Amino acid sequence: MKSLKRWLAKAGPAEKPEGSPCEKGATRRTLFHKIGVGSLLSGIAGLCYAMMRPLVPDVLYEQARRFKAGAPDSFPEGATFLEDQRVFVFRRDKTFHAISAVCTHLGCTVKMVNLNQPKTVQIGGKPVEVHYEFACPCHGSKYYGDGTNYAGPAPKPLEWYKLAVSPDDGALVVDLSEPVDKNFRLTV
Ligand code: FES
Repeated sequence: MKSLKRWLAKAGPAEKPEGSPCEKGATRRTLFHKIGVGSLLSGIAGLCYAMMRPLVPDVLYEQARRFKAGAPDSFPEGATFLEDQRVFVFRRDKTFHAISAVCTHLGCTVKMVNLNQPKTVQIGGKPVEVHYEFACPCHGSKYYGDGTNYAGPAPKPLEWYKLAVSPDDGALVVDLSEPVDKNFRLTV
């Protein structure tokens, strides 16, 4: 019997005693505190992402530099925005030209803005009546309708690209690898 008592004394209690109500409360408070901090941090991260996303340029890693944009007659009068290639194709009757939508500051996509009233601006020292312009949503650069930069951090005008007619099927071909001068026009 003595040896049994000694053995029980050595073995000690089978399970740890449960904590006091005070300790349980403290553990719960720590858990709620951690959950609260976690939610707050993920909320801040989401807010930061939403605020910073417009400042990050839209980068296209793969882009066909020369592509068929469709039959000339499929283009309406005025501007058509080709979203995938980020280029505006302009049609005036049978004449076409193309202007890049890639901002020359950090590469965001510019938006075309139709003016309520046409305005006369000086482009290359000459008065020109403009009906629309381009605005960059990232840092506020502005360009006249011919792509000339006139406000914001953009260091130079929007590119103009060469257009051609495909000999195979008569489709309009836009060549993003070949910038052209602002006097370029393609008449089909
Ligand atoms: S990317 Fe900065 S103004 Fe357009």
